[in-house]
Amino acid sequence: MNSNFLSGRWSTGLLGMCALLASCAGPSSSEDAASNAKAQRVLAMNQVTDHHSYSRPAEARITHLNWDATVDFNTRTITGTATYDIETADDAQRIVFDTHDLTVHTVTVDGAEASFTLGDAQPFIGSALTVPLSEDAKQVAIHYTSSPDANALLWVEAQEDQAPFLFTQSQAILARTWIPVQDSPGVRFSYDATVNVPKGLMALMSAENPTEVTPEGRYTFRMAQPIPAYLLALAVGEVEFRSVGDRCAVYATPDLIDRAAYEFAEMEDLLLAAEGLYGPYAWERYDLLILPAAFPFGGMENPRLTFATPTIIAGDRSLVSLVAHELAHSWSGNLVTNATWDDFWLNEGFTVYFEQRIMEAVYGRDVSEMLATLSYQGLVDEVDAISDLNPDDTHLKLHLQGRDPDDGMTAIAYDKGYFFLRLLENTVGRERFDAWLSNYFETYAFKGMDTERFVTYLKETLLADEADLAAARLDEWIYGPGLPDNCPQVASARIERVDATLAGWESGDIATADLPWNEWVYQERYRFLSNLADDTPAERMSDLDATWSIGSTGNNEVLFAWMEQSVRSHYTPTYPRLESFLIEVGRRKFLTPLYRAMKETDQMDMALDIYGKARSGYHSVATGTMDELLGWAEGNS
Ligand code: BES
Ligand code: ZN
Repeated sequence: MNSNFLSGRWSTGLLGMCALLASCAGPSSSEDAASNAKAQRVLAMNQVTDHHSYSRPAEARITHLNWDATVDFNTRTITGTATYDIETADDAQRIVFDTHDLTVHTVTVDGAEASFTLGDAQPFIGSALTVPLSEDAKQVAIHYTSSPDANALLWVEAQEDQAPFLFTQSQAILARTWIPVQDSPGVRFSYDATVNVPKGLMALMSAENPTEVTPEGRYTFRMAQPIPAYLLALAVGEVEFRSVGDRCAVYATPDLIDRAAYEFAEMEDLLLAAEGLYGPYAWERYDLLILPAAFPFGGMENPRLTFATPTIIAGDRSLVSLVAHELAHSWSGNLVTNATWDDFWLNEGFTVYFEQRIMEAVYGRDVSEMLATLSYQGLVDEVDAISDLNPDDTHLKLHLQGRDPDDGMTAIAYDKGYFFLRLLENTVGRERFDAWLSNYFETYAFKGMDTERFVTYLKETLLADEADLAAARLDEWIYGPGLPDNCPQVASARIERVDATLAGWESGDIATADLPWNEWVYQERYRFLSNLADDTPAERMSDLDATWSIGSTGNNEVLFAWMEQSVRSHYTPTYPRLESFLIEVGRRKFLTPLYRAMKETDQMDMALDIYGKARSGYHSVATGTMDELLGWAEGNS
C-alpha cells in the first residue's frame, strides 16, 4: 500500500521577489546607506517577480519592524501597530504592503497621519495596502486589528487542566493575516516587538526569547538579523523553559516539559554536527517549542525557535531527524532563502540533504541510508500521484502564478531536491561538494536565491568542468518532469531485509511470531507496515496486533502507518484510536492519508463523522486540504 509519506501535505504560498535586495544583517552607517541605495537601483533591474505579493520592493521596502501588539483571547484578535523603517528608490511614490483580512485603523508616515487605500481582497493573496509617500519618507506606522478567522492563527481553547494557547504559522503567505507586511521571501527586515498577553502566559517569537513568565504579561523581543516575513512567528501559552545545552533549550507545556527535555537532550550534538559540516550557526541560540497537537506541520523553522508537533515525542528519541531538518533550515532557507515560492526546492531540497548529513554524522550511515530509502519511496509515490494530474508540479522549478502556493508544496521539492543534490555530490566527490556548499551558504547569507541564478552559480563553480556538467543533466532535473534515470541509487541492507521479511510473511513462509519486530527500529517497522498489501485481511491485522501490540506503540509514525492500513483492511479494533487521534492531532501529513484511506475504501460516513467532530480544532492549512478532499461545504457542520 501506498502511505505516501509526504504527499498531499503541504502547500504553501509562495511568493518571490527581489532576490538581492536584502543587504545583510545589521544597520548600516549613513555612508553605507547611500551606497546601498545606489546598488539598489541597479539591482532592481534584476529582480525576480513574486506573483504572491503586492509589494513592490524596488520602489520602497521595509528594513526594520517595530511591533507593538496586544493578544486578546476573548475576541481572538491581535491589535497592534507595525512601525516600519523603510528605504525608497528615487522617485518612489508609494509603499505597498500585503494584508489579508486585516482591519486597518490608521496609517502615519514619519509621524503624520497619512491617507491609504486597501484594495479588493483576492483569494489567498488578500488585499494590497497602498500608502502614498515621497522618496524621502523614512518610517510608516500601521495601526490594525486581525480577524478572528485569520488563517495563520490557531486559538486553542482552554481545557480543564490546560491554559489556552495561540500559535502562528506564517509560511508561505499567511503572515499577512496577522500583520501588514511586505510578505515576500525576497524582502528581509530585522525586528523588535513588545507583546501584551493575558497574565500567567508566556509569549515567544522567532527572536531573542524570555525564559520565564512575567507578572504583567508584557514581553519584549529582538531579532537583529534580517528575516523574511514567512519566518515571523508568535506563540502564547503556559510554557516552561528547560535548558538542554549551552545554546539549546526546549519550551513546552508543564505536562510535556520533562518528556520533551529527555527526547531532545541531543539537540546540541545536532547543532555541533551541523556547524562541523557547513559553517558557523548564524542565529546564536537554537531552541525548540513543543506546540499543541493541532499544529498542522511536523516542524517549522522559525529562526532561533523551531515550532514542533508533540507527535515527535516518542519516548525513545527516535524521531529527532525532524529537529535535524528544522535546524538545517538555519542555513538552507533562513540564511539563503528561496527568492519566490516557485524556488521552494532551494529551501527544502537543500534542507533534506543537510538533514541527512547531520543524521549520518551523529547516528551513522546505516540510519541515514534508511531515511534516504524512505525518501526515495516517498518520491516515487509522489511522482506517481501527481504525474497525471499536474505533471508540471513534478519539476523542481515551479510555476505557481495564479495558484495557492500551498498547492505546489509537495514531496518533489523535498525528495527530488534531495536526490539532485546527492547526484551532485556523487558527481564531484564529497570533499569538493561540501566545500562548495559551505561557500554557497557563506556567499549568499541573508540573501534570496532564485533557480536561474542558482543554475548560473552552479555552472560557474561546482560544475565548471564540462564532463561534470554533462553528467548532472541539470535541465532534466530542474525543468523537466518525473525522475531522471541518473537518479542515485540508495542501498540500505536493513530496509532490504525488511522487504524480504514482509514478502516471507505475506506468502506464509514466516509466521507472525517469528517477525523480528522487537529488533526493528522505527524506520524498519514503518517500512513493514506501510508496504503491507492494501487488501491485507483483518484477521492478519488482528494476528499482528495480538502478537506485537502494534496498536499501542508510542511512536506516532508507526501508529500512523498502522492506522492507515487498519482502515484499508477494515480492521475495526483500531477505529476508536483512529478517531481519538484525528480529534487530537492536526498534523496534515497524517490527516491527509488517513481521511483519504477512508474515502477510497467506501468509509466516507466515518470520515465525515470524525471530521465533523475534529474540524474546529484544526488549523486553516489542514482544513483547506481536508475540506477539498472530503467535499466538505459550509453548513455540513
Ligand atoms: N518549512 C517546512 C514546513 C512548511 C512547508 C510550512 C511549506 C509551510 C509551507 C518545514 O521545514 C518542513 O519541511 N516540515 C516537515 C518536516 C519534515 C520534512 C522532516 C513537516 O512538517 O513534516
Ligand atoms: Zn523543511
